[in-house]
Amino acid sequence: MTGNNLRSPTHRGIVLLSARELDKMRRVGQLAAALLKHLEPMVKPGVSTQALNDEAERWMQANGAISATRGYAPPGYPPFMGAICTSVNEVVCHGIPNPKQILKDGDIINIDVTPILDGYHGDTSKTFLVGNPSASARKLVEVTQECMMRGIAEIKPGARVGDIGAAIQEYAEANGFSVVREMVGHGVGRQFHTEPWIPHYGKRGSGLKLRVGMVFTVEPMLNEGTCDMRILPDRWTVITKDKKLSAQFEHTIAVTEEGVEILTVS
Ligand code: MF3
Ligand code: CO
Ligand code: CO
Repeated sequence: MTGNNLRSPTHRGIVLLSARELDKMRRVGQLAAALLKHLEPMVKPGVSTQALNDEAERWMQANGAISATRGYAPPGYPPFMGAICTSVNEVVCHGIPNPKQILKDGDIINIDVTPILDGYHGDTSKTFLVGNPSASARKLVEVTQECMMRGIAEIKPGARVGDIGAAIQEYAEANGFSVVREMVGHGVGRQFHTEPWIPHYGKRGSGLKLRVGMVFTVEPMLNEGTCDMRILPDRWTVITKDKKLSAQFEHTIAVTEEGVEILTVS
């Protein structure tokens, strides 16, 4: 079953998770984080993105989980044919694993994993360095991670969605990078992608007010060049229009009485 299970209260159409459901999100969040840790030592020159995919799929199965991305087909999209997303260099997101795609020294690769455990989704991603990328590539990756953490640091009951985007956009642009507009963070739980939508740009004090029990992702994509993107004929792979580098980090978080809890930590 997907969607609201009817026992969950909602606020403006947004599911608020109970303590019991939060516990399930913690469990799948920890599993997702552990999967990224498990894959990290494989990220070396010479490995194919398909090999990363296959190991991720095997590991999810061995841990009682399944991939939310394999066969995922929102309206208007063909089924996604990967157990994970592997987005290399100019690929912004939704890169499809491929046996012919071999990582080489100096690449950057975002690995985005979404296992489903006991009906709940844990969504997290990280950009890894392959060998020794240029100083400018390393800076892009570092700034992107810091943007995600600055966005998350804004989260607490009563804060607004625009506060998250503003914090991300300010730090990205201060460092000379642009923020992708078309792809946003999203509510996640029993469903993979749902309200609230979380842009990674915006104005402080604007947008939806955050409430205890909301669970969503913060997943900024930063580009070296312009924020314009293109979609390849496979209808999934998103690349930068100028073919310059793009990096992304993602955590799933919960809004709590205390402020915020990152669920995708191991
Ligand atoms: N995990 C991605 C996200 O952060 C979504 C991947 S959908 C796929 O929302 F079909 F491309 F795998
Ligand atoms: Co993701
Ligand atoms: Co996501």
